[in-house]
Amino acid sequence: MSLSILVTGGAGYIGSHTALQLLLGGYKVVVVDNLDNSSQISLERVAQLAQDHGPNLSFHKFDLRDKPALEELFASEKFDAVIHFAGLKAVGESVQKPVIYYDNNLIGTIVLLDVMASHGCKKLVFSSSATVYGWPKVVPCTEESPICAMNPYGRTKLFGEEMCRDVYKSDSTWKIILLRYFNPVGAHPSGAIGDDPRGIPNNLMPFVQQVAVGRRPALTVYGTDYGTKDGTGIRDYIHVVDLADGHIAALNKLSDPSVVCTGCEVYNLGTGKGTSVLEMVTAFEKASGKKIPLVMAGRRPGDAEVVYASTEKAEQELNWKAKYGIDEMCRDQWNWANNNPYGYEPCASTD
Ligand code: NAD
Ligand code: UD1
Repeated sequence: MSLSILVTGGAGYIGSHTALQLLLGGYKVVVVDNLDNSSQISLERVAQLAQDHGPNLSFHKFDLRDKPALEELFASEKFDAVIHFAGLKAVGESVQKPVIYYDNNLIGTIVLLDVMASHGCKKLVFSSSATVYGWPKVVPCTEESPICAMNPYGRTKLFGEEMCRDVYKSDSTWKIILLRYFNPVGAHPSGAIGDDPRGIPNNLMPFVQQVAVGRRPALTVYGTDYGTKDGTGIRDYIHVVDLADGHIAALNKLSDPSVVCTGCEVYNLGTGKGTSVLEMVTAFEKASGKKIPLVMAGRRPGDAEVVYASTEKAEQELNWKAKYGIDEMCRDQWNWANNNPYGYEPCASTD
């Protein structure tokens, strides 16, 4: 009997790649998504890519905060575990509209935890972020590094983690893994699924990709005076397929009968390597054969100088390690962009 996994936010960027890896790994996948920042076409493509496993994917369009709908789903299906991606993620927007972020990200998580508990489903993988390390004083960031929040989005991740820790403290039959993602980029090597943000992208690589396909004239480089090798910010970019596989590793840990109780554990998912903005642009130019015009600008408020992960804990305890480097990330990002310059729904594009 294959394990059945509920994937909240599974139509989105990381969720769709994880849903595919789960299907290919023999899991049954049930996605709940309100399609607020995604398209159902991503899931149609996931089902195609999964070939014979495609029929093991099902989709329910509703908002996670709709408790009766979630109750009904849990009453109709028995889930072995939940991977909780659903959430809003644009930092700038969270500063403008904090209440919307607190409502969506926190209430969504509260409703989920409540319904899971009442149906006896107590295995959870929660999407956290390296944003909780703020501007780290020491790199690489280990799971023990101090955490803080620089904006409302970051606070929803911090509070989400804290809620999970409290839930475990109150009931030790829960098994929860908090995954702190560094900078997910790239796309599935097929070029059929990838990142398709609505509106103007906030993150570096979706913006670079849109410049490459002619949707935007130039990339603005935020900050050229950092104390780094070329003056631009350094991040730990991780291929989204590696990231998706990290979730399978987390599920394996939660389902391992030899592990009496993993409690509530946190793991970094990164590569442990730092890459500057200009290095990333050069790698993308090489992969795409496109020139990316640059506009040098001042630092973006809230940006850290250098952030990269310590990967030791995930390697040792999850038996997981990223396989891909930035050349593969850029190759696959370009393949996706070139095949889908306006994303999943060209007519709905908000350029
Ligand atoms: P995404 O926006 O592509 O996917 C999130 C999905 O959740 C979307 O499909 C959206 O429609 C859905 N959703 C949002 N609110 C919902 C709700 N209330 N009910 C049902 N569905 C809802 O984002 P992503 O990049 O795939 O990120 C997934 C998770 O990982 C998020 O929690 C995000 O904060 C976290 N994360 C992302 C990054 C990143 O750079 N992409 C980095 C660190 C952490
Ligand atoms: C941002 C968020 C962080 C979130 C993460 C992943 C901010 C302040 N932080 O982090 O909370 O967890 O995304 O979603 O928004 N850059 C440019 N030009 C651009 C875009 C980015 O030069 O148009 C630079 C940035 O200054 C940074 C690097 O590229 O040095 C990476 O930026 P980005 O992809 O936004 O990720 P983070 O800054 O790590």
